[in-house]
Parts: sequence; C-alpha cells; structure tokens
Amino acid sequence: MDIANLSYQNKIYHNTHVSKSNVNFCGQAGIEKLGKDIYVGTRNFLIQETAFFREPEVLEFVKGYIATTLKHKPEINIIDGACSKGYETYTLAMMLDKASQKINITGFDLGEEAIKEANNRKFVIKKLIINSERDEYYKMGYAAFNDDYLAFAPKETLQGKEAEYQTMFNDFFEEIPNDKEKHSLSECIKSIIFKGLIPQFETKCFRPKPAVTDKCRFVQGDILKLDEIVPPHNADVLLFRNALYHLTTKEGGSGFKISLPQEYVNMVVKKVVEQVDNSLNKNGLFVIGQHQSDHTSPVKDILYKELTKRNFIPAFTNQYDSIVTVWEKN
Ligand SMILES: C[S@@+](CC[C@H](N)C(=O)[O-])C[C@H]1O[C@@H](n2cnc3c(N)ncnc32)[C@H](O)[C@@H]1O
Repeated sequence: MDIANLSYQNKIYHNTHVSKSNVNFCGQAGIEKLGKDIYVGTRNFLIQETAFFREPEVLEFVKGYIATTLKHKPEINIIDGACSKGYETYTLAMMLDKASQKINITGFDLGEEAIKEANNRKFVIKKLIINSERDEYYKMGYAAFNDDYLAFAPKETLQGKEAEYQTMFNDFFEEIPNDKEKHSLSECIKSIIFKGLIPQFETKCFRPKPAVTDKCRFVQGDILKLDEIVPPHNADVLLFRNALYHLTTKEGGSGFKISLPQEYVNMVVKKVVEQVDNSLNKNGLFVIGQHQSDHTSPVKDILYKELTKRNFIPAFTNQYDSIVTVWEKN
C-alpha cells in the first residue's frame, strides 16, 4: 500500500469552502473543507479547534526543558505542526519570551485558510453567554479550549496560572475593533429565530505585538512531508498536538470518527515518526496532544512502538491518565 495514493495527491491543498459561522465552543473554532480529489482516504474536513494556552502543563514542561537541558544552545528552532490558526504558536512565543536563547517558531498546517488567518494576525476570543443549565454543560464539554478568561475575566478574580497567563496576554496582545465578527443579514435573522436554542457568544478581537510576531512565521504544509518545511536535524522541539486523528480516521455520520484499517494506521504513523525523527536534533522533543485520539487504539501502540524503536524516550507523562505527551529523542 502506498501512502501517496491513499491520502494526498497534490502538493498545494486548496480549500474549496470555509464555513465561517462555525462557533461551537468558547475558545476558537473553524472547519475547513478540502476538495475530495485533494484529500482522499481520510477526512474531508479539517477540524481546527484550538485556543490560547491549551493544555498548558505540557507547554510549561517544554519551557523548562529549553531553560535547562537546551540552555547551551544559542538558538532554539520550534516547529508547531497542525498549528491551526496560530493560537498555539503565539502561546509558545509568549511563554518563551524570557528565554535566554533566540527563539524561532514555524507554525504549519494543512489548512490553507487556517494559515491565511494566522498570517492575518487577528485573534478572536469568544465567551459563551450562559443563560441556562444546558449552556453550563456546553461550556464544561469544551474545557480544553477555555481561553475566554484572558479577555473577559476581571484581573482580581483570577489566581495562579490563569492570572499569570492573563498578564502575559495583555503584555503581548492589544485589543482592536472586532471587524471579523460582522454577521450577514441571514446569520442575524437565524440567531434571532433560534435564540435560546443555539449558544450565544460575546467576542473580542486582538492583535499580537512585534515582540511575539518577530518570533513566528506560518506556512502551509503536511506532517507527512515535513522535509519540505524543516531541513534535516534542524528542529529542537516539534509539536503535533491533537491532530493525528485527521490521518487515522474517516468521517462517519454526524461527525463521528471511524478508525481506518490498522494496516493503514500503522503505515501512516510510521511515516509520521520517520519524518519527525529526521527533522529533530538529538535531545529534541516531540510533543503530542492530550486528546484521547492521540493515545488510544489503534494509534497508541504503533506510535509508542515506533518512537521507542527510533530511540525516543518518554519525557513527560500526564499525571491524571498516564499518557506520554512529550518524547525526547536520544
Ligand atoms: C484539532 S486541531 C489542533 C490544533 C492545535 N494543535 C491544538 O492542539 O490546539 C487539528 C489541526 O490539524 C491540522 N491537520 C490535519 N492533518 C494535517 C496534516 N497532515 N498536516 C498538518 N496539519 C494537519 C488541521 O488542519 C487542524 O488545524
């Protein structure tokens, strides 16, 4: 079986349609539809759920590792794969602003529209307006994306890391008029008719300051063709968080993910690990997401096996469910 025939046929992945009104959680969302002829075999939709400071324990670990194990390096190259619209990339830039080394971060994503948005440098934060118990449940379901406190919570109500991240966010982002969230007449009518049935959001828009934009660049790209983005043994940290399911499942009804045959998954995961291995420096880190689809069958066994075979060792294990989210290349 040849991967090239099964999954991707073109180098440039033009999107055919973008759903602009997809607001299904309080961080930031978007779904980009890819043409069937271009993205064959897995999913037609790229789900671009992401948020600032998502799964921060892992990012704190990376920050500590750069300050200690990699402290001798004058420059650190970070590759943020599956960066969606850049929320994760800018989070890294903010968290590493005080690093003693020069930090270069390249964010890449398969989505053409996502990369355009990242380069556009306008970031919307959404806050769910809670009117009912149903809305409370809705919010709880999307806890991983909850970054609304950055823009909406009064400073004195925050503590610990949330207070620290809000201060950091205010240092590196400035609020700008929210021209991204202008709705068409039909959207406004729909939201009036269905008010009470669909969640309502408050939104604010922000622009990053040069201190962080200077560290980040964004390109369109595919994890399976990483060598087109990163020269061999050039990256010190490579992230590919909460995205493996795009390569290992297909769409079922109502958005359900259906696993592809194990043989196919094995081949894709092997290819991903091979590319990651080629792009990382010795002692470099490979970071995956906390989402269960990065760790459960049929991905976990083959992913952990291939990483181990290529001399990667577990570097950070999630304390709640014992999943390994960071791997160090030996
Ligand atoms: C759920 S988002 C994860 C975003 C971010 N990493 C996070 O954890 O918040 C998954 C992203 O993977 C991207 N993606 C899917 N397949 C990809 C591939 N083969 N190469 C690069 N990006 C891909 C999608 O476009 C989407 O933006």
